[in-house]
Amino acid sequence: MSGSPVERPGLLALAGVPSERIAAWLDRAETFLAGGDAPRADFGGQAPLAGRIVAHLFMEDSTRTRLAFEVATMRLGGRVIAATAAGSSISKGESLLDTARNLAAMGVDAIVVRTAASGGAAQIAQRLDVPVVNGGDGRHEHPTQALLDLLTLRRAMGSLKGVRVGIVGDIANSRVARSDVHGLRALGAEPVLIGPPTLVPRTLSGLATATGGPPIEIEHDFDRVLPSLGAVVMLRMQRERAAADAVAADYPKGYRLNRERAAKMPDRAPILHPGPVNRGYEIEPEVADDPRRSLVLRQVGHGVAVRMAVLESMLSA
Ligand code: CP
Repeated sequence: MSGSPVERPGLLALAGVPSERIAAWLDRAETFLAGGDAPRADFGGQAPLAGRIVAHLFMEDSTRTRLAFEVATMRLGGRVIAATAAGSSISKGESLLDTARNLAAMGVDAIVVRTAASGGAAQIAQRLDVPVVNGGDGRHEHPTQALLDLLTLRRAMGSLKGVRVGIVGDIANSRVARSDVHGLRALGAEPVLIGPPTLVPRTLSGLATATGGPPIEIEHDFDRVLPSLGAVVMLRMQRERAAADAVAADYPKGYRLNRERAAKMPDRAPILHPGPVNRGYEIEPEVADDPRRSLVLRQVGHGVAVRMAVLESMLSA
C-alpha cells in the first residue's frame, strides 16, 4: 500500500490532494453548516455513519480535534471509541502501531490518529486495511485543521485566489502551517511564512516544491508585511517541541498581534488561530476576541463540519 492520501480512503496529508477534492469537502461542509457557524442538527434520514465505529488514537493531548471528530461522528449517526496514552496499554510499553492493529482487529471502521511522530499516521495506514485520518502527526501535517482554516477563510472572503495569507510564528514546529500552505496553494491563495529566522528559516521556502509549487515567500519583518496581507493565521508557540526557547522572551516584541499591528492590516482582514491560544503572548486578548476580525471560535464550529465531510466521504456506503 502506498499510503498516498489520494489513493486510499483516508486522509494523511493535504500535500498532493487535488484542489477539486478539497473544494468538494468544503462544499459538503457548507451544507452541514446550513448557514450557521456549526452543525446544529443530526443527519436527517439515512445517517451515513449508522452502525459505524470510529476509533480515536490520540497520543498527544487535544481538545478541538478530538472532540470535533467525536461530535462529527455522532452528528452522522456513528459511534466513537477512544484510546489515549494514559489509560491504555501504551502506558505498559505497547507501540502505537500494535495498538492500532488491535483496534483494527476489533473491526472498527476508521481510526483517527494523533501522534508526536512525524509520519506516524502514514506508517499505521500503510500496515492496516482500515481508513486512517491524520489528526496531527509531529511536525508533518494536520490536514483537517487546514480544511477548517480554508473553510473559515472562504466563508469570510469568498474566493481565496490571489489572497496573501500570513502564517505567523513557530513555523519550524508547525504541522498546521505545513497543511495550510498546501491547502492555500491548492485554492489559489499566496501563503507568506512570517517569524524570526530561528523559527522561520529560509529553507522553509521549499516546503511546497515536492508537490511542484514555486518557493514560498518568507518574511522576518511582521510590521513591514502587515499592510499587504488579506488575512493572518497566528500560530501557538509549541513549547512542547522545544525549539522556541531561544526566542521566547523577544518574540512578542516583533510578532505578537496587538491592536496596533491589527490596525495596519486591511480593514476587517480575518484573524485566525488554530488554538489553543497563548493569550497575551502570540496574540493580545482584545484582538483574539475582536468580534469584527477574529474568527477563532468560528474555526472550531467549522472544524466539526469539515470532519463530517471527510468521514462521510470515507465511510458512507
Ligand atoms: N487546533 C488543534 O489541533 O487543537 P487541539 O490540539 O486542541 O486539537
